Amino acid sequence: MYTYLRAICKQYNLLDRIQLNSVVTELAWNATRNEWQATVITLKTRTTVRAKIVISAVGKVGTPDMSTLREVPGMETFRGEIMHTAQWDDSIPLIGKDIAVVGGGCSAAQLVPQLLLPSKTNGSGSVTQIIRSPHWVTPDPYLGKLLGLWNLCMPAITRSRLGARLTRFVLFSIYELLHFTFYRPHPNGGKLQRWLQRRLIRYLNQRAPEEYHSMLTPRYAVGCKRLILDPGWFDCLHDPRFRLHNFERTSVILDHGDQEVKVPTDVLILATGYSPGANLLSSMRIMGRDEADLHGLWTARGGPQGYLGVAMDQFPNLFFVYGPNSSVGHTSVLAGIENSINYILQIADPVLKGKVAALEVEEACMRWTRKVQLASRDSIWATGGCTNWYIDPNGWNSMIYPFSQVYNYYTSMSPDWNDWAVTYTKLGPSQPLRIRSRFPLWIVFIIMACLIPIGTQFVLKGAIREAIWFRPMRV
Ligand SMILES: Cc1cc2nc3c(=O)[nH]c(=O)nc-3n(C[C@H](O)[C@H](O)[C@H](O)COP(=O)(O)OP(=O)(O)OC[C@H]3O[C@@H](n4cnc5c(N)ncnc54)[C@H](O)[C@@H]3O)c2cc1C
Ligand SMILES: NC(=O)c1ccc[n+]([C@@H]2O[C@H](COP(=O)([O-])OP(=O)(O)OC[C@H]3O[C@@H](n4cnc5c(N)ncnc54)[C@H](OP(=O)(O)O)[C@@H]3O)[C@@H](O)[C@H]2O)c1
Repeated sequence: MYTYLRAICKQYNLLDRIQLNSVVTELAWNATRNEWQATVITLKTRTTVRAKIVISAVGKVGTPDMSTLREVPGMETFRGEIMHTAQWDDSIPLIGKDIAVVGGGCSAAQLVPQLLLPSKTNGSGSVTQIIRSPHWVTPDPYLGKLLGLWNLCMPAITRSRLGARLTRFVLFSIYELLHFTFYRPHPNGGKLQRWLQRRLIRYLNQRAPEEYHSMLTPRYAVGCKRLILDPGWFDCLHDPRFRLHNFERTSVILDHGDQEVKVPTDVLILATGYSPGANLLSSMRIMGRDEADLHGLWTARGGPQGYLGVAMDQFPNLFFVYGPNSSVGHTSVLAGIENSINYILQIADPVLKGKVAALEVEEACMRWTRKVQLASRDSIWATGGCTNWYIDPNGWNSMIYPFSQVYNYYTSMSPDWNDWAVTYTKLGPSQPLRIRSRFPLWIVFIIMACLIPIGTQFVLKGAIREAIWFRPMRV
């Protein structure tokens, strides 16, 4: 990964344009000069950088949720090692240790099988996993019989640009069908949901030890929490060194009702996820036009929000990549990130060319936010009967993109300039910027309308064969 990233930076002459080990602590808009001032600190220096445009790409699942530590009584006397999956410390020895993992999401499901590898534990020690509410787990199609075929064909297919694009399109379309059938209201939604739940429960019963079946059975709709593509987690639960505990409390108090459970622990690993809603852009103080404070404004308006996930009114020339409502649960986040970048490059172009001094999204931001919150209300994340990191306890969705990624692609193709207030420079065009022609939406709808019934039939008729979904259990 490092080699790849370095090669890309080298290819595009970026190496000496990147300043590492630096944190932006504050962004302030200077309305007189139409520019941003960024306060950048390193271990030794504190500097101010001026910029016509700022693009924030600070991510949202980087700050670990450590609240568990505050909630666990007696933690202050715990003498072992503690780490979060996001802050892995290779210097902590794991071989032969008793390890407790808190959490039952994707991170924990990927971690536990690795911890049980002989090279990690040297055959001794134990791994105890403590879960609160189980996630739905689906077999990973890429790990089944398809894997051999995939590994055989893909290098040849993706060597050509056409092959790579076609593969991406096919995978993208399959995932989009899931969006329409399981995440959004669907006429046969209830039936499809029950059908899928039956399949996943069957998978659970086939793979996981019987003693854990009830503990691992979710009591909410599939898709409400992030679905786990099983990376071998269920299989490894049979390992005699493994124990699973379930606690319904909000913390890892090691007693369950009247029954106290003592978990031998040398190393405590928190796979407790992140609090992205609370932490979104929190590493920076952002002051926009008329001293507007971004986080204050978000609080006043109900929660984090942003026009198409990329901009906020009162914050000219500031753009977000992977900003509010740009997460997805059913497909790759990177496709959405690419759409945002594509949009930002177009909107920033007249500023870069010196024709425009400032661009600020207007009431379209509030309109978009209303649309997003409305669409979120009947989505599976709000109605599925679970808590998740997409929607906060007040019902505010600051995280997930509630529409199809096709729509995301469409709205990012070219800016609707009517939504933007533009301050021109002296070089600015005599004609206002116009709405550029968009690929007609009705063509997109026709393609999707054809794909949905075909895809639904495909799913309903069980064309995803038993062989792929339910491999015989390895003993
Ligand atoms: C365990 C895990 C697995 C995932 N797997 C997938 C996957 O398989 N597919 C997928 O599409 N997505 C996945 N995601 C989601 C993933 O986070 C995003 O797809 C991707 O990392 C987002 O990239 P990013 O550059 O926006 O953010 P990040 O990768 O989080 O990068 C943000 C960067 O900004 C820096 N930063 C933050 N604040 C400041 C500041 N104030 N000043 C300077 N720098 C700052 C951070 O240090 C970091 O380097 C996963 C997430 C997690 C946590
Ligand atoms: N593509 C991939 O392969 C991949 C892999 C890993 C992660 N990810 C991404 O990263 C996101 C985060 O994944 P994650 O697994 O790190 O976090 P997560 O999905 O938020 O899961 C956190 C887990 O910790 C539990 N937990 C939190 N606090 C607890 C406490 N005090 N006591 C007991 N249990 C507690 C949660 O239980 P509750 O559910 O009861 O709150 C949940 O099971 C995912 O949603 C996904 O988007 C992707």
